[in-house]
Amino acid sequence: MRLTILGGGGFRVPLVHGALLTDRAEGRVTEVVLHDLDDRRLHAVSRVLAEQAAGVPDAPRVTVTTDLDEALRGADFVFSAIRVGGLEGRAADERIALAEGVLGQETVGAGGIAYGLRTVPVADDIARRVARLAPDAWVINFTNPAGLVTEAMSRHLGGRAIGICDSPVGLGRRVARVLGADPREAFVDYVGLNHLGWVRGLRVGGRDLLPRLLADPALLGSFEEGRLFGPDWLRSLGAIPNEYLHYYYFNRETVRAYQMAERTRGAFLRDQQARFYEAAGRPDVSALDAWDRTRAEREATYMAENRESAGAGEREEEDLSGGYEKVALALMRAIARDERTTLILNVRNNGTLSALDDDAVVEVPCLVDANGAHPLATAPLPAHATGLVCAVKAVEREVLAAARSASRATAVKAFALHPLVDSVNVARRLADGYIAAHPGLAYLR
Ligand code: G6P
Ligand code: MN
Repeated sequence: MRLTILGGGGFRVPLVHGALLTDRAEGRVTEVVLHDLDDRRLHAVSRVLAEQAAGVPDAPRVTVTTDLDEALRGADFVFSAIRVGGLEGRAADERIALAEGVLGQETVGAGGIAYGLRTVPVADDIARRVARLAPDAWVINFTNPAGLVTEAMSRHLGGRAIGICDSPVGLGRRVARVLGADPREAFVDYVGLNHLGWVRGLRVGGRDLLPRLLADPALLGSFEEGRLFGPDWLRSLGAIPNEYLHYYYFNRETVRAYQMAERTRGAFLRDQQARFYEAAGRPDVSALDAWDRTRAEREATYMAENRESAGAGEREEEDLSGGYEKVALALMRAIARDERTTLILNVRNNGTLSALDDDAVVEVPCLVDANGAHPLATAPLPAHATGLVCAVKAVEREVLAAARSASRATAVKAFALHPLVDSVNVARRLADGYIAAHPGLAYLR
């Protein structure tokens, strides 16, 4: 079986490869094709992979290419993990938004819109090529903003485009852990959009354990989301929100914390990864050691400003590896081997949330088998959550429309309608600033 990874020179590719190396079962991936625009990054990541595979019998064969069509032909699965504009682009997204007093995070608010506007045209092109060159392949999208980008691709590929994120799994695992339940046996009732969802229940053997957690302030304060949001707010909500909702529920505080930070997340990762790629290209350096150190530092500092502004302290040891490669591998296995499983994925709504149309990509528990991922029926969200989900989905639709029509006015509309952008004037200045900063947005007229 052949897996093609777009953005194959990306920093998280060794995570996926490491997971592949543990898979000994029939029908596993035997060939990995890394595609990237940047030779140097491909070279550095290949060196990490070679060290990972040393001594592992039957490790998948890894090849690299900068030719997209060649990478796609013959693929059974395509992981799309591209970053249009690179980390420099991410840093600019943050800087421009924060200067206007709004959030620049790569998936939330103005930053997510800017990133979406330059990614959708590229994702469209990839999806069209997949439809032509590898029509039976499954595309698993990792690229943020993951829900929006998956929706763009699903317009060409239907249910063959599936988006993944590890934050719902991590959240479900933490909730199970504090309740003393086995995460593998728990059904996590999680619903929403990517980075905009809520855990409303955790069922083990048909019994919902979440009420016990919500009734216990000490228990609530004992894990990441409890410290981030505070037990009182979680009790008011009657649910545990995805950590990215911290940017909504504590918007002023997070904007201020990021404005005051010495460097934005994107700028930090840009500098950190520049050092890694430089080191990993040197023959006298262990690329794997350099990668491991860099990864540990990245994970320890994840959402640091949010945690600091909430007084939440350091991340817990168990939370340090997100496990996104495990979600990807589990999804690929379930499809390739028809091993039925339940995973929280980004798929087309198809009636799951009645407030959204069928083609809207949502993040919900899905039953996965050889026929793909099918959302499970779920109880409706409360009005406050439906309101947010609908508002953000409407913004995503404006982003898709702006990308399709190359319309600057529609891009302004996307910024202006976002619940975290508080003035049309700000939206206009954001659009101007982003278009001036990003060559990838020059198409907006
Ligand atoms: C979490 C999020 C991802 C994000 C990743 C890395 O897993 O769900 O969407 O890409 O963290 O975040 P970072 O800030 O390190 O790029
Ligand atoms: Mn994510």
